[in-house]
Amino acid sequence: MTIQWFPGHMAKAKREVTEKLKLIDIVFELVDARIPLSSRNPLIDEIVANKPRIMLLNKADMADPDVTKQWIAFFATQQIEAIAIDAQSGTGMKQIVAAAKERLRPKFEKMEAKGIKRPRAMRALIVGIPNVGKSTLINRLAGKHIAKTGDKPGVTKAQQWIKVGKELELLDTPGILWPKFEDEEVGYKLATTGAIKDTILNLQDVAVYALRFLTAHYPDRLKERYAFSHIPEDIVQLFDEIGKRRGCLASGGVVDYDKVAELVLRDIRTEKLGRLSFDRL
Ligand code: G4P
Repeated sequence: MTIQWFPGHMAKAKREVTEKLKLIDIVFELVDARIPLSSRNPLIDEIVANKPRIMLLNKADMADPDVTKQWIAFFATQQIEAIAIDAQSGTGMKQIVAAAKERLRPKFEKMEAKGIKRPRAMRALIVGIPNVGKSTLINRLAGKHIAKTGDKPGVTKAQQWIKVGKELELLDTPGILWPKFEDEEVGYKLATTGAIKDTILNLQDVAVYALRFLTAHYPDRLKERYAFSHIPEDIVQLFDEIGKRRGCLASGGVVDYDKVAELVLRDIRTEKLGRLSFDRL
């Protein structure tokens, strides 16, 4: 679903998340491990403010594992606890519950010291921009399929708690926030990873960005995938060479640049070039 974020939508999304925050003890901020900065909401610190928060780097199965480790170490220096997970296969689920428990221990201990017996499970909300895997994570933690409400801010239904074992409860509707679109490079990264639809940005521009990035950071993967002994420096030549090798041709045998762009982006998103990370330290 293509989402159009207007100032009114953003204000409403922020209001809805703020309302949900009143109900919970802890926030799970879900981001895409391939772009852990670019897939963050720009106002997340302000919106979540003083609630305990754990950052979940989802789709870690698709991200460069060395870079993911570097990000986790970096976030630790910012006093942000980050965990790499893969909601599709379920990797990291136990760690999420354990980390939440650890983080909330002082709060619950304080309550117990005051004579309040631990009254209920920890309550959590998942927040994140569209397509980072919020529904997949909720379903994975719930152990069953919960229907998706829709990506549009403002689509509401009665909220329910989903039990995750005995110790954790999740709000069944995640908090949906918008990405940082002001920064052109962030837009390209969101598009390259498929977080925003291909109709939003020009496909060839996105592929130019992706190929330049791969040339700089993953030259060997690019060489191997498209059988280059050396990568052409000129971007048009690079498109031409990939197009010829892969049969992305229009009538008359000329290279069809749209087809090349589609092919390269499909290859990236289906891991034909291996595990890639586009946000780098
Ligand atoms: P959202 O609620 O945050 O909008 O995201 P959603 O769960 O719908 O997930 C978006 C896409 O990401 C889905 O792909 C989902 O399967 C995939 N996904 C979620 N978590 C992971 C993960 O940990 N690893 C991998 N590899 N993929 C993950 P999809 O159903 O194919 O949708 P689409 O690609 O057609 O949009």
